[in-house]
Amino acid sequence: MKVLVIGGAGYIGSHVVKALRSAGYAVVVFDNLSSGLRENLRADASFIHGDILIPGAVLSALYGVDAVIHLAAFKAAGESMLQPEKYAVNNIAGTINILNAMSDAGVKHLVFSSSAAVYGEPEYLPIDEDHPTRPENFYGYTKLEIEQLLAWYDTLKEIRSSSLRYFNAAGYDPEGDIRGLEQNPANLLPVIMEVAIGKRSTLSVFGDDYETPDGTGVRDYIHVTDLADAHVRALKYTVENDLSLTVNLGSEHGLSVMDVLQAARSISGREIPATISDRRPGDPARLVASAKRARVALGWVPRYSDLNTLVQTSWEAYQNG
Ligand code: WQD
Repeated sequence: MKVLVIGGAGYIGSHVVKALRSAGYAVVVFDNLSSGLRENLRADASFIHGDILIPGAVLSALYGVDAVIHLAAFKAAGESMLQPEKYAVNNIAGTINILNAMSDAGVKHLVFSSSAAVYGEPEYLPIDEDHPTRPENFYGYTKLEIEQLLAWYDTLKEIRSSSLRYFNAAGYDPEGDIRGLEQNPANLLPVIMEVAIGKRSTLSVFGDDYETPDGTGVRDYIHVTDLADAHVRALKYTVENDLSLTVNLGSEHGLSVMDVLQAARSISGREIPATISDRRPGDPARLVASAKRARVALGWVPRYSDLNTLVQTSWEAYQNG
């Protein structure tokens, strides 16, 4: 079976490609390299340098392809509030191009990178898939809008899809095969790593007065290798059952900013200076997933998402990067 991985040169995409190859799938990576990296491309997967905003490019890439995994999106929640046009075009219009090309080419199965950002401020914890979806940023809105498009294309065009609602992706390939480091990261662990290697001077901790045990924000960090495994399982599920599915992907454990910072200090042996700054607008105090549905439907169990492995694998990537 041949899978087109759109966004396969990116951080999560490159880990997904590795997992697909290990599971025996033939892989074609399609990426415009706007944030994906050439060094993430592999000799055992072919590569098309193309853009989802060009419908004909997507259609021709689908030749001989059995299924699609779509991870190509802009993902900075803060930026999406300042430049919604960029997110509307790339995330929503880009996905419409993919769906229409799949419809034209008769490709019926898709795995889509969605996000916990579809939920917005939590009304209860842990967050299950039935939690209300009220995104608080435009990025989260684009993911929710796409999920709704997918539901219509399921009904009207028999395109079956798995929407994977990622919580906080983190960590790097434990085997050290994937070396491409994200450029200008805004997420906690890569920012901490950039401080650890001296690329940034200090970590700003966004608030220490939340209603959490140590006052800093609590998130559900999920190792990228566990995410990649879930994509392979979701692909198999969607193809074999010819069914659509929406699942959370999280570890079901909350870690605070201080938990992550202290682990990084101890694993790296570096000081990692940090200062407390104001809360970042739109940040909830706590976000923790229920991943029961993924466990039951996909048999998915995270293996690398403990704090030590998250930080250790990141530190190895940054030390060698
Ligand atoms: C984690 C915690 C911050 C940076 C984002 C997107 C979300 C999803 C995952 C894609 C929070 C704190 C962070 C820093 C800090 N993306 N922090 N200093 O905001 O939970 O989620 O990534 O789908 O849509 O919004 O992740 O890594 O930015 O923050 O104190 O320099 O670390 O306040 O508590 P977030 P994050």
